[in-house]
Amino acid sequence: MWPYPKIVAHRGGGTLAPENTVAGLRAGLAYGFRAVEFDVMLSRDGIGMVVHDPEFGRTVAGRGSVAGTDAAVLAGMDAGAWFGAEFRGEPVPFYTQFIDYCKAQRIWMNVEIKPADGFEAQTGAWVAKTTRERYAAELAAGDPAGYPLLSSFSFAALAAARDAAPELPRGYLLDQITADWQAQAETLGAVAIHTNHKHLTPELAARVKAAGYGLFCYTVNEPARGREILAWGVDGFCTDRIDLIGPAF
Ligand code: G3P
Ligand code: MG
Repeated sequence: MWPYPKIVAHRGGGTLAPENTVAGLRAGLAYGFRAVEFDVMLSRDGIGMVVHDPEFGRTVAGRGSVAGTDAAVLAGMDAGAWFGAEFRGEPVPFYTQFIDYCKAQRIWMNVEIKPADGFEAQTGAWVAKTTRERYAAELAAGDPAGYPLLSSFSFAALAAARDAAPELPRGYLLDQITADWQAQAETLGAVAIHTNHKHLTPELAARVKAAGYGLFCYTVNEPARGREILAWGVDGFCTDRIDLIGPAF
């Protein structure tokens, strides 16, 4: 049902490093994490980059957008300085760099497909195709903990991922679990529901589990809350507080 790690570092290294950077992966490792969630968006030239916001201004300085900028330019932009001077020069990573690092360090990945508006299907298909190519041997070996779980809030992105690489598992992200969640999850061939713990109830958790789906929550930063939702049957969650909630929580 949930062959994946229970506790996952959110956006790389949570609040211990700039989000969606290799420095974040290093921070996760320093706290013993071998499981990570991060976000992938396409550049103007159609290359998957690890970044959360479609527009510059928060983690990357300046004006402009990810979808309007070529990958080579994005890779030269500073995604670390906003977080702290010691992270100055930390670049926007290519998705393939994250794959290489995670494979080398045996870090399990929950890849959130984060399309810019209008690029849903293209992003889903690119992430699925690239992931399948890079994890061909692991997919053939057949142990789901050995290859990534894709997830997205975008139904269209996940449908495109399903069509491009049906063998890769998919988690359907819902801020709130809707009345028609199960029909949508079935259409997507999803293995799990990923949802905001703030809107979850014990009844909803029981319903998702009774229907045979994995249940994963974001983003849980208080240990007491983590214990509470795990007692409801939640299989796992991601956290920003990798210093408070460890991999063996
Ligand atoms: O994948 C769960 C979580 O990351 C979704 O929210 O905005 O942090 O990508 P966000
Ligand atoms: Mg995310």
